[in-house]
Amino acid sequence: MTDPAFACIILAAGRGTRMRSSRPKVLHTVAGVPMVCHVVSVAEQLAPERLIVVIGAAMDEVAAAVSPHPAVVQDPPRGTGDAVRVAGDALTGFTGDVVVLFGDTPLITPETIHRLLEVRRRSPDTAVAVLGMRPEDPGRYGRLVTGAGDELERIVEMADASPAERTIGLCNGGVMAIDGAGLSGWLDRLTADNVQGEFYLTDLVAIACADGRRARVAEAPHAELLGINSRAELAIAEAVMQSRLRAAAMAGGVTLFGPETIFLSADTQLAEDVEVGPQVVFGPGVVVERGARIRPFCHLEGVRVGADTVIGPFARLRPGAEIAATAHIGNFVEIKNTAVGPGAKINHLSYLGDATVGAKANIGAGTITCNYDGIAKHRTRIGDAAFIGSNTALVAPVAVGDGAIVGAGSVITNPVEADALAVARARQQSFAGWAARWRAGRTEIKK
Ligand code: UD1
Ligand code: CA
Repeated sequence: MTDPAFACIILAAGRGTRMRSSRPKVLHTVAGVPMVCHVVSVAEQLAPERLIVVIGAAMDEVAAAVSPHPAVVQDPPRGTGDAVRVAGDALTGFTGDVVVLFGDTPLITPETIHRLLEVRRRSPDTAVAVLGMRPEDPGRYGRLVTGAGDELERIVEMADASPAERTIGLCNGGVMAIDGAGLSGWLDRLTADNVQGEFYLTDLVAIACADGRRARVAEAPHAELLGINSRAELAIAEAVMQSRLRAAAMAGGVTLFGPETIFLSADTQLAEDVEVGPQVVFGPGVVVERGARIRPFCHLEGVRVGADTVIGPFARLRPGAEIAATAHIGNFVEIKNTAVGPGAKINHLSYLGDATVGAKANIGAGTITCNYDGIAKHRTRIGDAAFIGSNTALVAPVAVGDGAIVGAGSVITNPVEADALAVARARQQSFAGWAARWRAGRTEIKK
């Protein structure tokens, strides 16, 4: 980008009391990703010269989530203006624009932030540009008190607003682009003289205007600026994000049957000509290659699904599953930390954990890898073109060679050589005429 350098501050120190959670608010997830990480990745796309995240005390997990970007601690959280002031120390010597984003506003897009920066830069007298929105219910959002055109006079927080100000429909979306040269001087003049006793960043507008500078509004859709303060708002953000992700998947050549029933993660990668049936859930870390068909009611997380495979219905692929091209995974099959070779078939009622399954192997119904001995996990190796009969328990560590056959109902505890037959079950005994004799004896009693 050839635009002048700017810095980005993401505020994430608030306790988020309205979430009623022991977890910091910004770590609650939208499409499988902590909401603050959505904001960080949007900021990264704009390539700021510096990116700083403001976190609260004892929020190491938030610092870890935003790393390698630096996190500075605001303790105690005394308002959004105070938070920006805390970040200011990390901006010493920087005089470009400063964009302030909120960690609880995860639906913002890079295009909208770019548009806001342009409004700030268009005329040098503009001290600050603010993203405004017109929600159906302005609720607790700050209200934008405007003058002529796109000029903003001040922002009044809901708690401090007069009845007349509360009827204003234009609200503060929370995102600001501020002339960095004036920023620290304006922040120094903020006071906590308001209903909440906090240093409001929003007061910066009136302070800069008092200096003869201008503030301007750029409007954006409410759906992008939704601030998450409660579980109900989290659910709305999730729905918005899901419809975006579904639309992007379909635009990328994926067929979704009943898209509104399919749930994606922000990092789900679906190649062209993938088909996904209804009620499929993609947790984080899933890559699906070209032409794969995911049939209804599957759950996938942390897996790679190869080209032209058929998965499900009702399959569960857990972290570390790698399904090679053209393999078939059928109903009620659970696979964890297992590489399944090309063309292998695991079609019914099986659990494979910590295993490798060779190319074109056939795993019969009800096959179980007994991977856990109560203390440690062990591996099972199944060779190419091996055939595992139905209802077999493979007690790991154990290996079945290429081309070997395991008889149905076996409990395999020793290695099976390539091309061997292994049968490990009680031998059947038959007694001719026994049943008829037994029934004859019983008829006496039955009378
Ligand atoms: C804020 C705005 C309001 C706007 C709304 C948009 C102020 C004073 N109010 O209100 O005008 O309509 O967002 O969503 O700015 N934070 C800190 N440190 C603090 C306080 C907050 O880092 O001391 C962070 C929070 O973690 C959060 C963000 O700043 O990510 C916004 O704080 P929040 O308390 O949710 O502000 P709102 O009351 O929603
Ligand atoms: Ca908020």
